Amino acid sequence: MKLLVTGGAGYVGSVCAAHLLEAGHDVVVLDDLSTGHRDAVPGGARFVEADLAEAAGDLLGEGFDGVLHFAARSLVGESVQKPEIYWQANVVTTLRLLEAIRTHATPRLVFSSTAATYGEPESVPIREDSPTRPTNPYGASKLAIDHMITSYAAAHGLAATSLRYFNVAGAHDRFGERHTVETHLIPIVLQVAAGTRESVQMFGDDWDTPDGTCVRDYIHVDDLADAHLRALDRATPGVHAIYNLGNGHGFSVREVVEACREVTGHPIPAEVAPRRAGDPAVLVASSERARTELGWAPTRTTLADMVGDAWRFTQQRQQS
Ligand code: UFG
Repeated sequence: MKLLVTGGAGYVGSVCAAHLLEAGHDVVVLDDLSTGHRDAVPGGARFVEADLAEAAGDLLGEGFDGVLHFAARSLVGESVQKPEIYWQANVVTTLRLLEAIRTHATPRLVFSSTAATYGEPESVPIREDSPTRPTNPYGASKLAIDHMITSYAAAHGLAATSLRYFNVAGAHDRFGERHTVETHLIPIVLQVAAGTRESVQMFGDDWDTPDGTCVRDYIHVDDLADAHLRALDRATPGVHAIYNLGNGHGFSVREVVEACREVTGHPIPAEVAPRRAGDPAVLVASSERARTELGWAPTRTTLADMVGDAWRFTQQRQQS
C-alpha cells in the first residue's frame, strides 16, 4: 500500500514507519519537525517537511491507500497551561486532514488515540466502552478527534481505526524515544543511568496501590506497531473501530525504577516527591477487543524487554 505517515519523525511514528517499510509498504512521512527529528525518519521513506494542515491536501491528491496519523502535541501538563495549542494543533489540524482525506477519497485512516481519553477510571482494566471523561485538554482533544472520525466514517465511508495507547516504551533498532522536553518515566530514569540527570523523583508513595506508587500499563513500541499493521489490513469501509492497546498488566513506578537498575547496573538514586497533578493511581488496559478482532497479542511484555531496548537505544545515541 502507499501510505502517508504524519508525525513519522517522532517516537511512535518513526517506529511504525520502519515497520511499514519492513512489511513492504511505500511510505511517505509528513512532519513539520516541531517536535520530531529529521534523522529519525527511516531511510526508505520519502520525507516531506511541511505543515500538515497545509500540505495534506496536495499530498493526498497524489493518491494514497491510507493515512497513519501520529502528528500531535502530547504533553499533558502543557495542555493544561496552553489548551489553545492542543485544540489548534490536534483538533483543527486533524479536521483539515479529514477534509483532505474526504476530498481525495483516501480509503483508510489509523489514528493515534490515547488512554487519556478515559480520564480517571471507575474500574480497571479499562475497556473501550468505559466512560470517556478526560481530565486534561490533551485527552479531550484526542477524544474530540475520535468523535470526528466516527462521523466521517459513517457519513463518508472511511475505514477508520483509533488505537488508544497506554504507556508506550522500548525502542526499535535505532528508533526510540527522545523528546526535547522529557516528562516520561522510563526515559527520565535512564537519563540518570546515562549520567545526564542526577536522580529520579517518584511522584507520590501514598497512592492506593500495592507499593504506594502509581501503576501503569507499559506496552512495547514494536507491539504497538504490529497493531497498526493489523488495523490497516482489517479496516472496514464506513466503520470506525476503537481499540485499547496495553498489556493488561500494570507495573508500579518503583518496579520501573528497580527494572532500570537491574538492566543498567546503575544504582539510580530515587526520592519520593509530591504527587503530580492529574495523575490517576492505576491505569491498566483491557485489550481483549484488539486480541479478538485484530488477532493481536503483545509479545514483549516484561519490563526487562522494554527497558532493555530503551537502554540500548540510549547508549547508541550517547555513542553517536
Ligand atoms: N512519574 C514519576 N516521576 C517522573 C515521571 C513520571 O514518578 O519523573 C510517574 C507518573 O507520576 C506516573 C508514571 O510515572 O505515575 C508514568 O508517567 P509518564 O509521564 O511516563 O506517563 P503517564 O502515565 O502520565 O502518561 C501516559 C502518556 C500520555 C497519556 C497518558 C494516558 O505518556 O501521553 O499516559 O493516560 F496521556
